[in-house]
Amino acid sequence: MCGIIGYTGKNRACEILIDGLRRLEYRGYDSAGVSILDGGEISTVKTKGRIDALAEKLKDAQHMGTTGIGHTRWATHGAPNDTNAHPHMSKDGRFAIVHNGIIENYELLREKLTKRGFEFQSETDSEVVVNLLDYYYNGDFKEAVMKVITRLEGSFALGIVCADYPGKLFAVKSMSPLIIGVGVGENYFASDVTAFIGHTKNIIHLDDGQFAEITPNEINVYDPLGRRVEPKYSKVTWDAEAAEKGGYDHFMLKEIMEQPRALEATINPRVKNGKVSPEGLDGLCLEKFRRIVITACGSAYHAGVVGKYVIEELCRIPTETALASEFRYSDPIVDKDTLVIAISQSGETADTLAAMREAKKRGAPVLAIVNVVGSSVATLADYVLYTWAGPEIAVATTKGYTTQVAMLSVFAVWAASRLGTITPEREAELTHALCELPERVQRAIDLSSNISRIAHANYKHSSLFFIGRNIDYACCLEASLKLKEISYIHSEAYAAGELKHGTIALISPEQLVIAIACYEGLREKTMSNIQQVKARGANVLGVAREGDRTIVAEADDVIFVPNTEPLFMAIPEIIPMQLFAYYVAKENGCDIDKPKNLAKSVTVE
Ligand code: AGP
Repeated sequence: MCGIIGYTGKNRACEILIDGLRRLEYRGYDSAGVSILDGGEISTVKTKGRIDALAEKLKDAQHMGTTGIGHTRWATHGAPNDTNAHPHMSKDGRFAIVHNGIIENYELLREKLTKRGFEFQSETDSEVVVNLLDYYYNGDFKEAVMKVITRLEGSFALGIVCADYPGKLFAVKSMSPLIIGVGVGENYFASDVTAFIGHTKNIIHLDDGQFAEITPNEINVYDPLGRRVEPKYSKVTWDAEAAEKGGYDHFMLKEIMEQPRALEATINPRVKNGKVSPEGLDGLCLEKFRRIVITACGSAYHAGVVGKYVIEELCRIPTETALASEFRYSDPIVDKDTLVIAISQSGETADTLAAMREAKKRGAPVLAIVNVVGSSVATLADYVLYTWAGPEIAVATTKGYTTQVAMLSVFAVWAASRLGTITPEREAELTHALCELPERVQRAIDLSSNISRIAHANYKHSSLFFIGRNIDYACCLEASLKLKEISYIHSEAYAAGELKHGTIALISPEQLVIAIACYEGLREKTMSNIQQVKARGANVLGVAREGDRTIVAEADDVIFVPNTEPLFMAIPEIIPMQLFAYYVAKENGCDIDKPKNLAKSVTVE
């Protein structure tokens, strides 16, 4: 997704903007640019390709200006090229803007502006913003910004600079991520705090519809009607180092290794005096809910599939999962007696946000499980449970996923205790198991020391199967996506009991089948599925609980995972699968942290 950044202060803006854009690269992009305001002139440099190409273009000219905006573009309207790259400038050079999101009514606006003599250089939706500013401007920067905002429909995080207002920026937030950085004698805005965390950890969250007027020594926040509102200050708890690779070859490996700490940060604050007590759920009356619907995308959806098993087992409330991209258009049958749980790492996924709005429109309360504080998902939800995983930079989520599963498990134990569907003894047992998970995951990492050897033996496969039952099947879904999205090898997750209904026809000699047989209650059944595929010549990699020696006789190779509460098995057992995907992708020389065609946060449909 696009990344935007702005700076105004005492230092040269150019270097700060380029550095910030590099920290936003993980969002996925295909072009980049900056606009620098200096002496009443805005100079804009932009290019197709990577930040390095932009830096190359900038190095000859001395851009001394101390105010500027920058952009990394992930093309939605118009091909990736220099013209479509941001920032976009008004014809008279007075304004420059950067935009993340989609202006849904841009064709109509473009048509009206063209009739009034405005010209468009690009194919983008964003360019209507800068021409609208030109149209409304009568010398008052803030007034022009306000008028433009009233004309735009859709999602937009905007950064704007005006040649007549040295040192001043405007930042506008509407259903796209935007955060303000508060420095000393300098201030920032960006899509993500990662862009400026090396300079300040003090931030201001904007609500959708609000906009900020930013100068080196002052930040004013306004509501859509232009009335001053009290800024919502907070402080980022992690540092620039946390957002760097920490010595690992890739962010993904670093984040896999961080999972014990991420789980500890997510679980421990929710266990007080031996009882699970998550914050932020006051007023959530569980007894009234006849069903639960979990909605999300991608890996967050897979976390929801695990959550379904755990919540139904403990709370005995019918729980279903729905892909957010389907849910939003299905005229969903939810109402005030349905609890909708939305899961999102980034908190900016367009489909998930749309699903939440559909649920709220129908009176269903929405509980969000989200990793980014102040994100759009967090703001829109009625209840929020944060996964304190810290910044996740790799496009392929790992700690984001396991902390989502952990948060769902915390919620399920808490809910079951409130509903009385588990005994105090069972509650204590489950609470203890939750608190043990960080150590169990560290053990899973330790037990996976042979995974790079297994990956080396299997990285040439063009297709493979993951099979399992119940929670093991849910884990297969996530294991398969991990492999596909970073190694580009096709794989399919299959409910093991379903194989005989057709797909077993694809099992031929040497076909690799990864069989996850950790869920205690169905292990025997999965073992028989292993025998079925072995009988057809498949090469089986088994994933089993530590101490389960019977699988050794059946599978060609085995990865062991540590024992834990069966309902929480999805967390340790995904660890070797994450590492398997990582090392297979590494063997294939893939761009692991930034896989082709993918973005860290899919903020458009
Ligand atoms: C996961 O590895 C993928 N990058 C993707 O499926 C992701 O889980 C999905 O886009 C949802 O993102 P979110 O959790 O930020 O909403």
